[in-house]
Amino acid sequence: MRVLSGIQPSGKLHIGNYYGAMRQHLHLQAEHNCFFFIADYHALTSNPAADDVAACTLDVAMDYIALGLDTQKTVFWRQSDVPEVTELTWLLSCVTPMGLLQRCTSYKDKIAQGLAPNHGLFAYPVLQAADILIFNSELVPVGADQKQHIEVTRDIAGRFNSAYGEVFTIPKEHIIEAVAIVPGVDGRKMSKSYGNTIGIFEPESKVKKKIMKIVTDSIPVAEPKDPDKCNVFALLKLIASPEELGEWDEKYRSGGMGYGEAKKRLAELVIDYFKPFRVKRAELEDNIDYVKGVLADGAERARAVAGQTLKKARQVVGLRR
Ligand code: ADP
Ligand code: TRP
Repeated sequence: MRVLSGIQPSGKLHIGNYYGAMRQHLHLQAEHNCFFFIADYHALTSNPAADDVAACTLDVAMDYIALGLDTQKTVFWRQSDVPEVTELTWLLSCVTPMGLLQRCTSYKDKIAQGLAPNHGLFAYPVLQAADILIFNSELVPVGADQKQHIEVTRDIAGRFNSAYGEVFTIPKEHIIEAVAIVPGVDGRKMSKSYGNTIGIFEPESKVKKKIMKIVTDSIPVAEPKDPDKCNVFALLKLIASPEELGEWDEKYRSGGMGYGEAKKRLAELVIDYFKPFRVKRAELEDNIDYVKGVLADGAERARAVAGQTLKKARQVVGLRR
């Protein structure tokens, strides 16, 4: 199946991104024909500094490759290297009702937060639809926060197809729900915007320090604790083996365990798990040309597919020579 997903280069990736999205993307590579890209056009909607866009894009590329992206099998590119998507965005915009975009909750939420919206932010779901449709994607793995954008994509594809003929494959969404929400060190959703993240590749000493500071309640050591209410346990669930998790569950419930003990073990597990990826990441940092080469090769492969779909779409709407 053709699987496609994008990730925005809007800061250092954290373990919430890994367990919530990237790990599932990487697992899908074994069985599917995967297309993954770095959504730098989308990142511009929040007007980041130019140097940050460029640096974060390379960071995300190195992160994905270090974490196991199969550069031979999977097509991996920078969105802006395939400008065909912006042209398709225009064709799709012309069949997209305003109301459809006005109903998008991610847009409404940002306005509610007091953000002055630009047109890019409003049109964001149309660009996302173009990303998906131009590659004839069948399955789009995304977190629950992106579900509505996939519904919008399906709606736009249906409208275009009924107006002009069957040009686009209607994609299915594939919500990644195995991991609900990864909590940050303060117990809220781990997110760049809350400053509560544990970075995948930040120095090990910092990872440990942050884990030791995870917010817990103040139940005394001797007393039983509810693992399901503990942020440390929520993270242990992601990384400990089922046997070990069972042991922690018992320790929590029987009392006599301090949170410090669980935090220490969590830090060990996180550091051990990411160690081999960290080695690979360091190699890539010394070999940026290789990373740029992977993206350039991916862009070429992506453009070959995108160009064909765009050609069909141009034809059917009447942009013919
Ligand atoms: P952030 O909130 O840090 O800005 P993004 O919105 O860029 O993260 O998310 C990128 C991907 O990672 C999305 O698919 C999102 O669903 C997933 N993700 C981000 N934070 C978490 C989290 N705390 N738990 C689970 N998944 C997450
Ligand atoms: N909007 C997505 C996010 O913020 C990123 C994205 C852009 C995407 N284009 C996409 C995801 C196409 C899936 C398919 O997470």
